[in-house]
This record gives sequence, structure tokens and C-alpha cells, in this order.
Amino acid sequence: MNVRFEPASRLRGTLAPPPDKSISHRAAMLAAMCDEPVHVRNYLDAQDTNSTLLALRALGAIVDARPDELVIRGAGLRGVEEPGATIDVGNAGTLMRLLPGWLAAQAGKAFTLDGDASIRRRPVDRIAEPLRLMGAGIEAQAGRFAPFTVRGGDLRGIDYELPVASAQVKSCVLLAGLAAAGETVVREPAPSRDHTERMLLRAGAPVAREDGRVRIRAVDELELESITVPGDLSSAAFVIAAAVLVPGSRVVLEDVGVNWTRTGFLRIIERMGAVVLADLEPEDGPLHAVEPVCEVDVAAGSLQGTIVEADEVGLAIDELPLVALLGCFADGETVVRGAAELRVKESDRIATVVDGLRALGGAIEATPDGFAVTGTGGLDGGRIEAHGDHRLAMLGAVAGLASRTGVEVAGMEAASVSYPRFAEDLAALA
Ligand code: S3P
Repeated sequence: MNVRFEPASRLRGTLAPPPDKSISHRAAMLAAMCDEPVHVRNYLDAQDTNSTLLALRALGAIVDARPDELVIRGAGLRGVEEPGATIDVGNAGTLMRLLPGWLAAQAGKAFTLDGDASIRRRPVDRIAEPLRLMGAGIEAQAGRFAPFTVRGGDLRGIDYELPVASAQVKSCVLLAGLAAAGETVVREPAPSRDHTERMLLRAGAPVAREDGRVRIRAVDELELESITVPGDLSSAAFVIAAAVLVPGSRVVLEDVGVNWTRTGFLRIIERMGAVVLADLEPEDGPLHAVEPVCEVDVAAGSLQGTIVEADEVGLAIDELPLVALLGCFADGETVVRGAAELRVKESDRIATVVDGLRALGGAIEATPDGFAVTGTGGLDGGRIEAHGDHRLAMLGAVAGLASRTGVEVAGMEAASVSYPRFAEDLAALA
């Protein structure tokens, strides 16, 4: 589907962004790992998170969709059913990499996972290695791609240093650690989102964090009762970027999750000169069982270039394409380094962002681990290809509103992976 986004004069209004995708996936999975029913409120109704519900049903969970909540009756930590067919993860990398942590503990059972063309290009050796060390079996295409089979085993705890800062891999190992003998330790080279740790703590698991290490021990059962998903800062970020770029704008986003491991983008754009009013959680605080939520009030401002280094990358990983877009409008250079992980997202986001913004008139160069943008005062406009990547589609839309002549996004339907109402929400503010 091709959709044109015309230059906007200003954006004004209040908006509740869609529920958080990362937290929705985790809420559904952890609910299905509990023995008692769990009420999940404000679950994201989008393609990725619907893939998770289908997968959980295939594994024997009952998912009852009521008007204002989901009630999930799971199989417990060790009672998963072997499905008769391949589990389809669709486009969802988080599902593909977290679910095997639970499946690995189902001794004597085997599960095959597969997904769309993008999923088949995203590596799973990063979870296969620790799960094998813990005692599970994994067979993947060319050793590292879907479709792959997880063979459950009697797991033992490991002390594992993540080769890349990845919340998905960390979460996978922690979920396996819930049923492993002894202690499981995960060491992170740089901080990444900690939603799994918080939710596990809330569900009664003995999980602790100190000095870049997360520790967990096995439990007999998890208990959650109810969980409410906050608004997604990564989705809100597209609206925030539009408000920052379109002169005269002011937008208030309500009920946004502001866990410090997710707010890197807000800190980056403040540094660039955007006006952001929000009560953010302090950085690097202790592990809490709750997800902080607040209002985020943004207004357009004049922007300067900035440098984003590796230690900040994990806290803004899904928003880095927007940093590139803002860089096109900023004075001077904007550089992102230490972000080679962008190459294995829903698309190779270094290549697709650089090609996409260049096609609109941006002065941007790819580097092996990021990009360098020279601000030229704005973007002309043109046509951008989403490459089946939801965040690329939304990037194109925002670029259109801020451009001189408008942008046509080819493949706008990809936005339904995380933010089905994105175009309508933008239109309501314009
Ligand atoms: C996610 C973690 C990040 C992020 C992805 C969601 C998660 O991936 O890019 O969109 O929910 O844990 P990595 O763990 O691969 O960095």
C-alpha cells in the first residue's frame, strides 16, 4: 500500500500511544507460564503481539479476549504441550527469541519455530549458544536461522556473558533460568531494556541485578494475577519526532512507559535542542517490579547535531532511525556509532535508513556500525520504501510531514506490526 504524507503546518493535541510491544509480548508469555489465570490489560492489538497469542494457544494456553482485558490461562512453567505443527512467529523477533527460553525447559519435547521472510534473515545462534550450554538442543538452518527446532532438556544454570547487548537474548536465558538447576547469571556489555527482569520480580522469581549482571534461580511457579501494559515510547517516538520537526507543534503523549532503559531517545533529542517535558525515571536505578508511566509533552525546537556512542545505543536502539531523520534537520553533524545491531533488525536498518533518507534529499553516509548525517536544513521529499519494516514505514510518514514537498511511503501497511492506527493518529494531530 502506497500512502502519501504531505507537509504539515503544525501538529497540536493529546494522544495516548499504543500499548508497549515489548511489554505486551512479555506479559502474555509470562502469563502463560503461570499456573493461575492472569488478567492482562491494555495488551497491544497489533500483528506482532497477535502472533504471540497464537503461539501461546498452540502451546496449550487458553487466551480469552474480553472487551477490556485478556484472561490467559497457561500451562505452568513445565507443562507446555507439544503442538502438532510449526509455531509461526510472523515478523516478531521478540517472540522468536524469548519463547525458546521457556520451551528449552520442556524435557523430552520438541518445538519448531518459523516466521516471515524478514524473520528468516535474523540470527538465532545468539540464543542457541546459551540454551545449548544449559542443556537444550537447537537445530537451525545454516546453524543460525529459522526455521529451527528447540529440544527441551533438564537445564542447568550458566554464567553467561552476552556477546552483544541484547534484551531478547538476556530474556531468553533468564526464562530458561527459571527451570534450571543452580543459579543462572547473565552479564551485559551495556544496559538493555529490563522489562523481563521487572516482570519476573513481580511474578515472585528470585531475580537481582548488580554491576551489569542479572542473576536468577529456579522457581516452582510464577504468580502474576494482573498486569497493565503502559504506552509504547518506541511508537510514541514517531509522533514525538514529528512534533519536534514540524514548526509550531506541541503534542502531549499520555501514559507513556518511561523505564530508563527505554528513554535514551528522549535524552538524545533534548541534547539536540528539542523541548521535552516529562518526569523520567532516573538512569541506572535499582531493579523495580513496576514500569513507570508519565505524560510526555513535546514542542518543536531548533536542533543541533549530536553524537550517540555505544553505551547509549541499547537505550534507544529502535529509535536510532529517527535520530538519523532529526539529524537531516539539525545544524552540523549527527553521528551514531556502535550500533551494528541495526543491521539485523526487521530490515538492515543502516542500509534502509541511509538509502531511504538519501532518496528524500538527506546527506547521510552509512558506516559499518551506524551512520553519519550532515544537516542541510531539511528534506525535499520523494518516495521511500518500507522494506516490510514497520519502523521504516513510520519514519517515511514523519519525514513527509516535515518535508518540503511530501513523501510517498511504499509499503505503509508494515506499520500494523506495532502501530496499526499510526496514520490516523498523525492525521488527528495535523
Ligand atoms: C526488544 C529488544 C531489542 C529491540 C526489539 C525489542 C525486546 O532487540 O530492538 O525491537 O522486546 O526485547 P535486541 O534484544 O535484539 O537488541
